[in-house]
Amino acid sequence: MRYLPVLLICLGSGLAAAPMDPMQPLTQPRTLTASADPMTALRAPDKAQGDGPAPKPEFGGLPDAPGAEETFYQCTACHSTEIIKQQRVTDARWDDLWVWMVEHQGMIEPEAETRAVILGYLKTHFSSER
Ligand code: HEC
Repeated sequence: MRYLPVLLICLGSGLAAAPMDPMQPLTQPRTLTASADPMTALRAPDKAQGDGPAPKPEFGGLPDAPGAEETFYQCTACHSTEIIKQQRVTDARWDDLWVWMVEHQGMIEPEAETRAVILGYLKTHFSSER
């Protein structure tokens, strides 16, 4: 019984602290502003509206332009177009990615002409340079 008052004080302070519950913010729905939401970049449209050709659903949402079809069939054997659409890289990086895909991922090298079409398409629409 000697510890009862201590226990009561603990309980009392626990109740008193209820409005200050440090877990409360986590139990409340959070409405993040778009800029604070770390997933925004993944959900954002691939390009700002009006910037470049419209996405073509038949080709995994790749921008509707010459090379979209070739790119779609070459690249989606292994992964979706999402991994492409989220890129904004230099021309040199696209060349490197191509080589990496062939040498390390087992991508089948198409004819030179097709390769040029696809790399031209990637460098035009998923570039950090233009
Ligand atoms: C033979 C299978 C295969 C083909 C075909 C293929 N890829 Fe990939 N690609 C992969 C694999 C495997 C990864 C790694 C995926 C991962 O990290 O989960 C990858 C990753 C990538 C990445 C991300 C690289 C990074 O920096 O993380 C890009 C961009 C990419 N591929 C573009 C392409 C493009 C463009 C094409 C068509 C020209 C293509 N891929 C065709 C297998 C392939």
